Amino acid sequence: MILVNEPLVSDEAKKYVNDALDTGWISSAGKYVDLFEKNFAQYLGVKYATTTTNGTTALHLAMEALGIGKDDEVIIPDLTIISCAYAALYVGAKPVLVDVDPLTGNLDPQKIEHAITPKTKAIMVVHLYGHPADMDPILEIARRHHLFVIEDAAEAHGAEYKGKKVGSFGDIACFSFYGNKIVTTGEGGMVVTNNESIFKRAKVIKDLAHSEGKRFFHKHIGYNFRMTNLQAALGVGNLEHIDEYIEKKLWMANLYTELLKDVVWIEIPQIQQYAKSVFWMFAILIKSNAPFSRDEFMRVLKEKGVDTRSYFYSLHTQPVLRKRFTYDDSAFPVSDDLSARGLYLPSGLAITEAQVREVGEKIHQML
Ligand SMILES: Cc1ncc(COP(=O)(O)O)c(C=O)c1O
Repeated sequence: MILVNEPLVSDEAKKYVNDALDTGWISSAGKYVDLFEKNFAQYLGVKYATTTTNGTTALHLAMEALGIGKDDEVIIPDLTIISCAYAALYVGAKPVLVDVDPLTGNLDPQKIEHAITPKTKAIMVVHLYGHPADMDPILEIARRHHLFVIEDAAEAHGAEYKGKKVGSFGDIACFSFYGNKIVTTGEGGMVVTNNESIFKRAKVIKDLAHSEGKRFFHKHIGYNFRMTNLQAALGVGNLEHIDEYIEKKLWMANLYTELLKDVVWIEIPQIQQYAKSVFWMFAILIKSNAPFSRDEFMRVLKEKGVDTRSYFYSLHTQPVLRKRFTYDDSAFPVSDDLSARGLYLPSGLAITEAQVREVGEKIHQML
């Protein structure tokens, strides 16, 4: 079976993990945590970064650090992982869902304003599958309505919008380093910002909210979202290779594009002129007039030894949200369409040329 994602762990990462083990620094104290935060902030061109246990806790921490709370509203794209909506729910806020752009699957700037109410506090932008969202109009709307911008760049390490790395645009940005991400720490996350007071709040809240100058004395609720030195050691070692990893993703995307360009029933991802996509995953769409469904396509490919994943379910269809809120089901035609037709092909960093060619061949065979 060609797996949808096989991670790559660099030799340096293995060496640093062993060093952390050998020296006994296995919890969240230890040099690799600071180093990973410093190196990642430097890579992105942001001032501050703090690690977390995963991308979901990074999103939760972002909400807390921005002071978003009960009955506030957060605008979230309808086509993303549930973690984005959970982050709002965790702090008692309402995820207000907005349809997405048909070309990128990212938040559609033209549909944001009608969703803004006096309760709106933030717009969450997700750079889906490694392709940046169209940030300028979103930032302009946020400025005009005095809203925070939260970037979820979990899938877009190193992606650029107009030459600047994503994760450096919002008031705060969140990353995941899960095993399938470009830089992985196994499980892990990071919150980054250029705002010192947001950063300081995030640092305190993620570490049980000890009082300043008086540890183990607590005035507010905090969490334990601390990353271990072992995970950070992986992060430092893998981050050293990020340019090479992104090159590999681009090479893979080029090869898939070449192999699949004549397949009439498949839509290949398009890169917008403002974007450098990092092709975290090579995501394709089955055309709506194809004589087979996306699910049939995936099933047959699986029988032929190729694993794939479908796009996220639209958030407005998620029972956990529908139990709590009412959504107008007709308001998300693009998200519903992409969710029904989208899938991604094996795209992990460990993929070989032979495997990409085999996937291409099997798709040609079956069609
Ligand atoms: C866009 C996006 N945001 C957030 C997350 C959550 O990250 P994690 O799995 O590390 O909690 C993911 C998934 O990994 C994701 O794809």
